[in-house]
Amino acid sequence: MKKRILSGMRPTGSLHIGHLSVLQNWVALQKEYECYFAIVDWHALTTAYEDKISLGDLSREIALDWLSVGIEPEKSSIFIQSQVKEHAELHLLFSMFTPISWLERVPTYKDQLQQLGAEGKDLHTYGFLGYPLLQAADILIYKANAVPVGEDQVPHIELSREVARRFNHLYESVFPEPQALIGKVPLLPGVDGRKMSKSYNNTISLTASTDEIGYRVRQMITDPQRIRKDDPGHPEVCVVHKFHAIYTPDVGRIEEECRAGKFGCVACKKYLTENIDQVLAPYRERRKVWEEDGKVEKVLLEGAEKARITAAKTMDEVRKAMGF
Ligand code: TRP
Repeated sequence: MKKRILSGMRPTGSLHIGHLSVLQNWVALQKEYECYFAIVDWHALTTAYEDKISLGDLSREIALDWLSVGIEPEKSSIFIQSQVKEHAELHLLFSMFTPISWLERVPTYKDQLQQLGAEGKDLHTYGFLGYPLLQAADILIYKANAVPVGEDQVPHIELSREVARRFNHLYESVFPEPQALIGKVPLLPGVDGRKMSKSYNNTISLTASTDEIGYRVRQMITDPQRIRKDDPGHPEVCVVHKFHAIYTPDVGRIEEECRAGKFGCVACKKYLTENIDQVLAPYRERRKVWEEDGKVEKVLLEGAEKARITAAKTMDEVRKAMGF
């Protein structure tokens, strides 16, 4: 039997090329695993409960992003968390035996409380404290063996393992302990050299046209000491170079030419634009097909149905084990 994977993303806005390596990793995992990919709209509310956002629109948008990069509904269940209510029931049941101290010591808890607190968000809420437990329910309800996530999520997977162990010990052995699959995520800066983030307006969107890519690449910060084209360049301080390292197969050659003052910034940016465009062009094409009327909605409906079947089976076992 194929091993199972679950992963999720919050619907907080359309994706950019900083998210691409994570998605490409998911696409590759589809070959080997039975995959569940959740748009975790309830999680978005744990921090954005005051914001006037349309979770429905944002969820559809992120589903389109996933489909356009090659997540295939024939292979993977793509669904919206809130359409599989069993996640909420399992979260509630888990809350009965999960010590509060387990949640308080999750490192992201205190960090984010402070960080987002400084931005004016009051996260002293029940939901925010409990969201790693909701995440444990997301994972365990599919009996996922592995969870592809970034490094920052490792404590959450560890909590899921502890919750699984505690359940299996208190009641019956229902849950396998999930492993974190830590993807290598190259850290791409935004075009201005800061962290890539939509709120800084320094991203390249997954949907960017050739012209938009060119515009963003021209904004990229280059070596400030390089004034004339034939000055020797310093790729290690150049944002353009960081992108070449990912998008340009012969990055070694241009690095040498840059250092030797033989490859100017204008040509270098033009070359990068072409290489990024080559990656994004097929995604744009696929997106057009998925944008046709009703297609995404159908994928999400069918994805939720498939997810619900698996989730319902687990919940039958859970209810029985707990004496319902
Ligand atoms: N907490 C994750 C994040 O903020 C999102 C998430 C929710 C998730 N449920 C999940 C990730 C289950 C992996 C598996 O990025």
